[in-house]
Amino acid sequence: KADADKAMSANLKYLSLGILVFQTTSLVLTMRYSRTLKEEGPRYLSSTAVVVAEILKIMACILLVYKDSQCSLRALNRILRDEILNKPMETIKLAIPSGIYTLQNNLLYVALSNLDAATYQVTYQLKILTTALFSVSMLSKKLGVYQWLSLVILMTGVLLYSYVLICGASIIWSLSLARRARGSWLAASSSGCHRPCRWPSDAQELDAKALSAGSQFVGLMAVLTACFSSGFAGVYFEKILKETKQSVWIRNIQLGFFGSIFGLMGVYVYDGELVSQNGFFQGYNRLTWAVVALQALGGLVIAAVIKYADNILKGFATSLSIILSTLISYFWLQDFVPTSVFFLGAMLVIAATFLYGYDPKPAGSATRA
Ligand code: C5P
Repeated sequence: KADADKAMSANLKYLSLGILVFQTTSLVLTMRYSRTLKEEGPRYLSSTAVVVAEILKIMACILLVYKDSQCSLRALNRILRDEILNKPMETIKLAIPSGIYTLQNNLLYVALSNLDAATYQVTYQLKILTTALFSVSMLSKKLGVYQWLSLVILMTGVLLYSYVLICGASIIWSLSLARRARGSWLAASSSGCHRPCRWPSDAQELDAKALSAGSQFVGLMAVLTACFSSGFAGVYFEKILKETKQSVWIRNIQLGFFGSIFGLMGVYVYDGELVSQNGFFQGYNRLTWAVVALQALGGLVIAAVIKYADNILKGFATSLSIILSTLISYFWLQDFVPTSVFFLGAMLVIAATFLYGYDPKPAGSATRA
């Protein structure tokens, strides 16, 4: 029986990690596509999208609790009352990671406004190290030699990868300048290019980067702070989840409750005027709903990964998804040319992922249950 439970738990671990790779990859690609697509009318407000994703996440979690309570509305009502309303001290614990996540989402907005997407995406991977350090200090997690080694290999892979991405961005920049110098820029973009063309946004991003070198420092500080907040909030959530008996879905409802409140405060502060002029759902289209749904799915999957695997493995899954999304964008958008250094970086990330999971059996431990 214990073996069956262990096998079930291992299956859920790999299933949740696989879904996380799929979710992160499709979210990155859908977001990139939604950014490059030119639509008429106002663009959707990201502050409202955050709130809608939190509410979708709460609704999905309520459905999961309903399913767990044998589809009885009465039982669902009782669980929600007993576990959330009648345990205010347990509920309030979730205000801490929720507040940190809200701050983090804002910091990442600052980071993305000041850094190009590639630098941001790769620098943010440093959260793998902060997460490992918080896991060791807050959860007393013991990492073996192979696991520390795999973290070092992972960081090397990520740094090589960043080198390639940043070089790639510089090539895009030089090419865009050359194109514009030839005056062929507008002609090229209006002459029936059917695939989403990323040149204008990349050129603008890179021009902005060149104009305000000082803002890179602000962006870098924001992303580095976000690395610490991501590690701390994730490990804090893991600690709450593994040290108390409440289900992961109840915990996520509590997290989403505070997340919605903090998110609504963000809407009021950043976009209050725009919302009162054009409404909360201004600029929403099918693609926006797809992005919001994928974000909500992300909340569910991250919670499942933290429960069945851990925060460090979550980092490996997102690293793999960066490689996957770059490869897909190479074949699909054809805007990235992989080089041998890119492949080396990718191979190191993949090798580190397997090494982290490698569990050499110490002699004599084979008979232990
Ligand atoms: O980058 P990082 O992995 O820290 O991002 C985690 C994201 O997942 C945050 O935006 C947070 O709001 C979300 N999350 C969630 N539910 C959880 C844990 C995280 O929605 N249980």
